[in-house]
Amino acid sequence: MRIIRTDNYDALCKIAADIITAQILLKPNCVLGLATGSSPVGVYKMLVQKHRDEHLDFSRVRSFNLDEYVGLSPNQEQSYAWFMSEHLFKHINILPANTDIPNGIAENIQNECDRYDAKITSCGGIDLQLLGIGQNGHIGFNEPSSSFTCGTNHTRLSDSTIKANKQYFETGKRIPTHAITMGCRDILQSKRALMIALGDNKALAVRDMLTGPITPMVPASILQLHRDFTLIADGAALSKLENHKLAVNTLTSP
Ligand code: PGA
Repeated sequence: MRIIRTDNYDALCKIAADIITAQILLKPNCVLGLATGSSPVGVYKMLVQKHRDEHLDFSRVRSFNLDEYVGLSPNQEQSYAWFMSEHLFKHINILPANTDIPNGIAENIQNECDRYDAKITSCGGIDLQLLGIGQNGHIGFNEPSSSFTCGTNHTRLSDSTIKANKQYFETGKRIPTHAITMGCRDILQSKRALMIALGDNKALAVRDMLTGPITPMVPASILQLHRDFTLIADGAALSKLENHKLAVNTLTSP
């Protein structure tokens, strides 16, 4: 496990974008696991810049997103398919056929979960998985008490997740209560995992992930067992680790 502390969001995004870039340069046909939410927005912005200014080539990259709301179609602005198109896909040369996001309006959600896992496997698994962390310790939409052994699954969102995501929905609009999410097993099986966490509202979740027991009550705690896990975080997100003896690399921006 590596922990990198940065002093601001730009520095955090730059390190994450550099790690993803290195992955693409080392293996141009790599499989990326991608995340949504507010944390990765700046990372995607930097990858778009690298594509534009440094010709970073996504033409052979494959991607699988972590999750999607059940009931939202890709042309609804709150869907994660829409998010990925707006923030990344439409600005780079990734082939649409090489991008996969769970289909939130599939007729049979269980079949969709099975299809998704089978496709990840047929592509050789995920080389690098980008992650955020929820205030309740969720990864993807694996909420507290999710099984560690689950592959892609149909899940009910916790009340705290629904509350945290409310900001993305117009007042009065129905907020989805269910999602399809890659499972903890899928995430643990990725060859590398890269998490970004910022803000003091993530500090307790980060502390429990890194120093608490490995328990389904803190889904991110399974990352203690990941073979190659890097956390990039700001001081606020790491603020509850002060009494714990963990090696933290501090990188300050120039
Ligand atoms: P955030 O969400 O990036 O919007 O903070 C992360 C998550 O809930 O996984």
